[in-house]
Formats: sequence, structure tokens, C-alpha cells
Amino acid sequence: MDSNNDLEALKTRLLADLDACEAASGAGLDDLKAKYLGKKGEIYGLMRGMGALPADQRPVFGAAVNVLRDLAEERLAALEAGAAEAAILEKLSASTLDATLPGTRAEMGHLHPLTLVRDDTIDFFRGMGFELAEAREVDHDFYNFEALNIPPDHPARDMHDTFYVDENVVMRTHTSNTQAHYLVEHEPGPVRILAPGCVYRVDNDASHAPMFQQVECLVVDENITFAHLKGTMLLWAEHVFGKGTRLRIRPSYFPFTEPSAEVDVSCSLCGGSGCRLCKNSGWIEVGGCGSVDPAVFEKVGWDPEKYTGFAFGFGIDRIALLKYGIPNIGLLTRNEVRFLRQF
Ligand code: DAH
Repeated sequence: MDSNNDLEALKTRLLADLDACEAASGAGLDDLKAKYLGKKGEIYGLMRGMGALPADQRPVFGAAVNVLRDLAEERLAALEAGAAEAAILEKLSASTLDATLPGTRAEMGHLHPLTLVRDDTIDFFRGMGFELAEAREVDHDFYNFEALNIPPDHPARDMHDTFYVDENVVMRTHTSNTQAHYLVEHEPGPVRILAPGCVYRVDNDASHAPMFQQVECLVVDENITFAHLKGTMLLWAEHVFGKGTRLRIRPSYFPFTEPSAEVDVSCSLCGGSGCRLCKNSGWIEVGGCGSVDPAVFEKVGWDPEKYTGFAFGFGIDRIALLKYGIPNIGLLTRNEVRFLRQF
């Protein structure tokens, strides 16, 4: 046997096989590896046959086989790497994901107009040093009426269209019950509180809902006057409806304030010249107010000779309708997304 001829023949076959495999993008690579480099492969076969050679030819032949083996290993490794890369590219091109496409935007929620007005009112009064106060929505008659100088047979009760839970317990008809709670539960001293919350009345039409939100304000100290009330309300009205908004204070009656007044602001839509929103009067009513009636201080055990105060109460729903030009109060509770999106 001429071993050198065998070596040359093997090399020729190996190179032809490698070229074919490369041309076929690596197909049959594993078989090729086994065929040449495996334990029972051809290159080891040559090495095993080396024992039959004369001793002086073995080193040269052995070196030549090693060169062939290195060549086979190198080419096969390169083919393997190429095949792996081709597999990745193929996977990528088959994928439908296009990382360069713009993403889908998550839709942002909106704050409800009532929440906007309430939070804004809280912010504004907090900035003036007011503290938030709370009281129950289901409350004793005493806090909702009695302590506020509205005894059982008082005609003012008729205005409140009360939901009674039982004889002595009501759904509060106004946030003014917070005034009574706060004064009863605190030692006499300076008070500056703001109390937003839900109130309930037997009512349901385009401008009245059975549940609505009010915000109550109470200030008590020595020497508080009606002028403090007026100044505070004017600042608030300008904040909500814009600079230049004017106030009109009309005498009115509430059992818990004396004197009492109703507050109008110049129409935010026409500026006072008259339009549909203000029914051509130029003014829009926003709430009630007054100096705390000494009878209230007496009911809660505070000294009416020492303390004076002012209070006001506004409907948050009403402010939201005016501020955003919403024609129907029912829209505020209908969960209509096309409506809510606008805020
Ligand atoms: N509680 C009254 C109502 O709901 C509004 C009100 C008027 C509140 C005068 C006040 C006030 O604090 O001083 O109709």
C-alpha cells in the first residue's frame, strides 16, 4: 500500500466534500465530521495504518496526517459557525416583529371635572392655611340641623328635602354638619377649616341631583368680621373664574348665619353683559354665606361674646357646570366616556 497516495486521495476527497458542504450552506455537516474526524473516521484510519510503515517514514507521514487533520478541523469549525449564523438570520427574517415600528400608545385616563374642581379648591384653600375637615354623610339630626340652629319645627327644614334614615338620623343635606362636628369636638380657639364632601337631597332634574358635592368653609377667631368673608370669597372667585371676576352679595337667610347672604359671581361666559348661561342677568349664584350666628356658638358650648366667625358653602357640581359650560348636571354621573374625555 502506498500510504502517501492514500493521504493525497483522502485530501482530495476531503476538500471536495467540504466544498460541496459549503455550497449546500452546511447541509450534511455532522455526517462529514463523523466521516473524517470521528473515532472511526478516515483520518484516524490513516493514523492507525501508520504502524505498517517503515519506522523512518513514520514521523514525516504522521506530520502530514496532522496537517490534514488540522485543515479538516479548521474548515469544519468555520462551516459550523457559518451554519449557526445562517440559522439565526433565517429565524430573524421569518419573524414578524419589526422593532423599528412605532409602539402603540397606552391611553391616558382623565380626571373627572368634579375631581378637578374639588382638588383645585382644596389646593387653593390649603395655600391660605386652611385645614381639611370631615364629617359623616349619615349623621345625627343634631349636627345636620339642631346644632346649626334649625330646631325640629323650623321652616328651613322644608328647603332641605331630607332623606331620613330613621327619626334621628339623616343623610346629611349639606356639608355644614362639619361645622357642628368640628366645634363640638374641639376646644374653643382659632378655626380655619375646609370640608368638601357629598350631600343628599330628595331632588332630581336638569340642575339638581339627589347626590351632589359641596365644599364648606368655616373661620372662627376673635374679631373675625364680614369683611374677612368677602375678601376670602373674592380671592377664591378670581382663582376659579379668572381675574376681574366680581362678587355680588345679596341679603338672604340661613339659620346658622347672621347676617346671611347669597353670593353671585359675574358671569364667566359673558363677563356680565348678559347671556343664556346667566339668564341675561350678568350674574350667577354660587353659594350661601354669612357670619356665624351666636346661637350656633351657644349650641356647641363656645362663648359667643369672645368668638366670631364666618362660613360659606358652595356646590362643587355647580362650580364645575359654570366653569366648563356643562349644560346638564346628569352628565357628571353618567360615566359617558365621550364627555369625560374632554377634561
Ligand atoms: N348649607 C347651605 C346649603 O346647603 C349653604 C350655606 C349657606 C353654607 C350659608 C354656609 C353658610 O356655610 O354660611 O344650602
